[in-house]
Parts: sequence; C-alpha cells; structure tokens
Amino acid sequence: MKRILVTHDGSKASDKALKKAVEIAGKFESSITVLSVIPELYLTELSDMDRQRITQLMTEETQNALEKIRASLSGKSMDVKIILRQGDPAEKILETARKMKVDLIVTGSHGRHGAKKFLLGSISSRIVDYSSCPVLVVK
Ligand SMILES: Nc1ncnc2c1ncn2[C@@H]1O[C@H](COP(=O)(O)OP(=O)(O)OP(=O)(O)O)[C@@H](O)[C@H]1O
Ligand SMILES: [Mg+2]
Repeated sequence: MKRILVTHDGSKASDKALKKAVEIAGKFESSITVLSVIPELYLTELSDMDRQRITQLMTEETQNALEKIRASLSGKSMDVKIILRQGDPAEKILETARKMKVDLIVTGSHGRHGAKKFLLGSISSRIVDYSSCPVLVVK
C-alpha cells in the first residue's frame, strides 16, 4: 500500500476519513495525497459575476482548510501532498486516483450537504461505484 488518496470537503466526516488514512499510512509507510475539489456552479440563476465571487470564496475557504491540514501533518514523517482542483468532485477524484495509480481511496460516508437519510453521499457513492482501486468509506 504505497499511495493513499484522501478526499476532503471540509466536513467533519472527511476529517474522520483523513484521521483514519493517516493511521493506515503510518502503519504501511504510505504516502498521503489530500484532494479537495471545488465544485463548478451550475445554478443558472447566478450571474457570471456572482458565480465567480462564490467560487472565489469557496476556493479561499478550501485553501484555508487545506493549510490547516498541512500544518497538522507537518510533524509526521510521512510524505504528504495536498491538491486543490476544480470541477466535478467525483470525476476529479477518480481521475486523480487513476493518474496517480493510488492503492486506496479514503472518503467520508457523508459530506457537507449531508442528507442523512441516504446511506452514502452522492460523491462517496459514485467513488465506490466507479473506482478501479479499493475504497475505504469511513463512518
Ligand atoms: N468536493 C469534494 N472534494 C473532495 N472530496 C469530497 C468532495 N465532496 C465530497 N467529498 C468526499 O466524499 C465524502 C462524502 O461526501 P458526499 O458529498 O458524498 O456527501 P454529502 O455532502 O453528505 O451529500 P451530497 O453532496 O450528495 O448532497 C466526504 O466526506 C469527502 O470525503
Ligand atoms: Mg457533498
């Protein structure tokens, strides 16, 4: 288990996933890549300017969260990469996993939107459905 990809959306559930991934990486001496994807906004009611502003705010918020993660992992001896991308989250996660040839994807069961009546969030469920490598869904 050389490379682990952790998907992070700023939610408590993804913090839990990160914690578990760090635990596993410590045991297997794996590298960790933390990936956060800023979703594209498809709301047609938004003007281009609003869309840009919201995307800008989400990017800043995500960058801050990723910086905190970087700081929290800086004391550990493992190899940590932090990536921020924009687009369809599940697609970008699957594409990154493929390109980096990761051995495991770790995700939370739910995220920020959290309709708890569903067993899994839509992103984690798409990852489980379409990933060609093992996926750990942390509950
Ligand atoms: N934009 C994202 N970037 C990176 N990882 C993400 C992103 N969105 C979700 N994830 C990962 O997927 C896990 C489950 O989140 P998901 O989005 O599937 O559930 P949800 O937000 O509760 O529901 P939904 O988004 O379907 O309304 C998160 O804990 C996180 O690990
Ligand atoms: Mg979500």
